Amino acid sequence: MKRIFLSALAAVMILAVMTGGSFAAEKKGAKAAASAEKAPSNYWDKWTKTISLDIFPDCGVNVLGAGGDDILQATVDIYCGVKPGGYVGYVNPKVHDIYKKKGSKYPDGKTAVLVFKKIGAAFTTDHKDGQPIYDVVAIKDGKSIASKDAGHPLNPQTCAKCHVGFKDVCKKLGYLCGNRL
Ligand code: HEC
Repeated sequence: MKRIFLSALAAVMILAVMTGGSFAAEKKGAKAAASAEKAPSNYWDKWTKTISLDIFPDCGVNVLGAGGDDILQATVDIYCGVKPGGYVGYVNPKVHDIYKKKGSKYPDGKTAVLVFKKIGAAFTTDHKDGQPIYDVVAIKDGKSIASKDAGHPLNPQTCAKCHVGFKDVCKKLGYLCGNRL
């Protein structure tokens, strides 16, 4: 019994040596295919999850009746046309304490993101000298896809108009909005 096992093992080993070249090449190909399908890695991957919305409301939907506030209604009205799908928010763990305590001052650096998987985009908030910097980046490569058109929903000025200007709702929270309630 032991001998049969050993010779079978030897046969397998010989086979492995004989086919070694092509087997390794195949494996390499499979590995390349797997990495092509692998989800892109983004700087917020290990950040702390904050807010989320499973389904972005359609245009015309009144979220006030469903417990939403007027800034959320304004957000729905601006972004419904983009059909962005649900979102998940993340905050940099380094500033999570400030976020939790509804602080108003964030240090320089990357602060928070709102990820819209369906459209492959992430809204980003950074801080520099106490001021917010907004951008929109592609999830696949992190490159900016912000718009330069005045009034466009993906123009950083539009972000600021709301985050900085909407009745001071987010301004007093260091220009973040997700921790306002
Ligand atoms: C009309 C208002 C409005 C506009 C315009 C807007 N946002 Fe927001 N944003 C909000 C609200 C409200 C939330 C919180 C959503 C929630 O509570 O589920 C939010 C959340 C966020 C978050 C999650 C972190 C946080 O709590 O602030 C980021 C990041 C963000 N927005 C970036 C952007 C960027 C970048 C743009 C422009 C491309 C933008 N926002 C445009 C209202 C707005």
